[in-house]
Amino acid sequence: MSQHQVLESTRLQLRPLETSDEDSIVEFMSERKVTEFLLHFGYPICREQVRSWLNNVLSATPEQCGYWALVDKESGRLIGVICLTLDSYNRKGEIGYWMAKNYWGRGLMTEATWRVAQYCFDTLKLHRLELTHMVANKASQRVSEKVGFQLEGCWREGHWKDGQFKDVKIYGMLAVDYERARKRFAAVDPVE
Ligand SMILES: CC(C)(COP(=O)(O)OP(=O)(O)OC[C@H]1O[C@@H](n2cnc3c(N)ncnc32)[C@H](O)[C@@H]1OP(=O)(O)O)[C@@H](O)C(=O)NCCC(=O)NCCS
Repeated sequence: MSQHQVLESTRLQLRPLETSDEDSIVEFMSERKVTEFLLHFGYPICREQVRSWLNNVLSATPEQCGYWALVDKESGRLIGVICLTLDSYNRKGEIGYWMAKNYWGRGLMTEATWRVAQYCFDTLKLHRLELTHMVANKASQRVSEKVGFQLEGCWREGHWKDGQFKDVKIYGMLAVDYERARKRFAAVDPVE
């Protein structure tokens, strides 16, 4: 397999990122709020930074990671990104994500994260998924909780952002947690 497969949820298509996605990513990452809690992007964002990040991402193998563009099925627009970094020896992965501000609060990242969790446990047969976010990032906390991640602890001053060390919450989802969450999601998002 040269890249991770295209995934679909009720409102989104999750397809592998492409070089031509640069403009859309620059556009929605130019909003300060989108980069507020991101580790690898500061504000203001510059096109060269996005291009170099995209080149790195596209040169990684699927054994290392997967990056999906989140495409709104209704408009066909790229509205976010979700990434999965893999540790095959330990059968675990780590999820990260961001979304264009105009689309926040509609349950879209919960939907996308759940779809990637399904792919990780059902297709890749992972044992564990991880997700971290800065303590102040309440939206990301809610996404973690809604998808069924368990809070496992905190890295004190674990991330350097905007000239300060920030506390970071760490979440995990085991295959057994996923099985528990599955019933709940089947009712909300019937796309399996
Ligand atoms: C985090 C992010 C991806 C969430 O995307 P989204 O599509 O808005 O997420 P959802 O709509 O699925 O869920 C968001 C939840 O957070 C809640 N929320 C948002 N801001 C909140 C706040 N300040 N305090 C408490 N809850 C908040 C929403 O009400 C919603 O919960 P609900 O469904 O119970 O009402 C988006 O805010 C984002 O891109 N942020 C910038 C990038 C980022 O922080 N990425 C994560 C780095 S770890």
